[in-house]
Amino acid sequence: MSTKTTLGILGLGTVGTGVVKLLRDNPQFEIRAIAVRDKNKQREVDLADFHVTDNAFELADDPNIEVIVEVAGGIGQVHEVVKRAIKNGKHIITANKEMIAKHGPEIFEAANKHNVTVFFEAAVGGGIPLISTMQRGLQANRISKVAGIVNGTTNYILTMMEQEKKPFAEALREAQAKGYAEADPTDDIEGNDVVYKIAILASLAFQSPVEVGKIYKQGITQISDLDIQLANEFGYRIKMIGLAQPVGDTGKIDVRAHPMLVPLHHPLAGIEGVNNAIFINGSAVGEVMLSGPGAGQFPTASAVVGDIFNLASALKLPDFARYFQPAMNSTTCDVCPIEETTNAYYIRLETLDVPGVIGHLGLACGEHGVSLLGLVQKGVTDEGVATIVLLTHQVKESQLQAALGDIRRQLTTKEIPVVLRVLR
Ligand code: NAP
Ligand code: HSE
Repeated sequence: MSTKTTLGILGLGTVGTGVVKLLRDNPQFEIRAIAVRDKNKQREVDLADFHVTDNAFELADDPNIEVIVEVAGGIGQVHEVVKRAIKNGKHIITANKEMIAKHGPEIFEAANKHNVTVFFEAAVGGGIPLISTMQRGLQANRISKVAGIVNGTTNYILTMMEQEKKPFAEALREAQAKGYAEADPTDDIEGNDVVYKIAILASLAFQSPVEVGKIYKQGITQISDLDIQLANEFGYRIKMIGLAQPVGDTGKIDVRAHPMLVPLHHPLAGIEGVNNAIFINGSAVGEVMLSGPGAGQFPTASAVVGDIFNLASALKLPDFARYFQPAMNSTTCDVCPIEETTNAYYIRLETLDVPGVIGHLGLACGEHGVSLLGLVQKGVTDEGVATIVLLTHQVKESQLQAALGDIRRQLTTKEIPVVLRVLR
């Protein structure tokens, strides 16, 4: 075998291209093969020097490859290739949050069995060294909370809608053109990407896997320019947030992915464009905030190549692999249902502009113990439909839903287009 660390690169899109550009002249590494779906596609990098295949299993079966760098994304075949590569004794470096969130425990167990390791720094936080910080830098701590902005595409869209007054669709197109969005951007805008990332962060923080299907999610597609403007008027900025924290002594973990109104003075409100920022509360260190570019070719390639260097150094040590496996119990986290959580809320609703409406809203809220912090009416259409915004104090989600149920049944209510939680 060569004295260089030998790599098989699975995927040559935004991230894979960045990885090849960063590595191609590095004497420490040799790219033995690159797998893509379509060998005839025009590429940003000259592939003349590389063996290129459209059969990713070739990488998993090549005895001359030590490390598979999986930057293809998705599950299905890619997951099968990773499993086979592990079985064949290859180390894995991956940027694939969906695969780690859904199949992490089984992948880590297989890696343990075959004495190889799996690095996934780029899976959360793009270029921010977040996973290694949680896995190694904060080992002395019991983590009590992880929360922040972990999706670059939605942060970019919300920033463009607010600052440049761009329509949602245009901002999304830009995020795609810049290489921030997932192959299917629904994963970004409907919250799946944040679900995968917060599942990974929660499982590292609380050392138990989190089932992604149990995580509450809400995307950003319902949010309009009006919500952004009203949030500003109330002293907030809307941000897509991932959050994970234990619920008192119940043994449950509150894990969720949804947009929130963040007070303008909060550091998360100042995180703009593709940037991410994550707060981690540790028992020894206190509160740490890490921020930086959360997506894009070179920031993400930086994280992947960082993993490659770390792995190459570790390869020189005997029997190193098990030291890099995430500490993980076999039982999954008990996720607290969203109905049991307590939040403050922003509610935008449309009602008929007739006498008594405000009183009825107040009554429905009062009946279910929802205390109002603010209420404003914003204009009336020619058809006599008024936009009303309510801000509530902290209340249990189930009580809020009961109040909203009553409000929906009132004959004067036309629609409740947006309900958002507020970060206090
Ligand atoms: P992308 O631009 O869509 O590229 C995907 C690449 O994988 C393409 O080259 C595609 O081949 C190849 N591919 C997909 N399935 C394959 C298969 N079964 N066999 C062989 N090749 C296959 O995606 P990306 O943005 O680079 O993202 C890649 C991964 O990194 C994803 O897991 C993503 O979530 C993660 N990630 C991305 C970013 C970012 O900023 N973009 C940041 C962090 C993490 P063709 O080119 O032939 O179609
Ligand atoms: N689509 C993801 C994002 C890529 O926008 O954050 C980085 O994980």
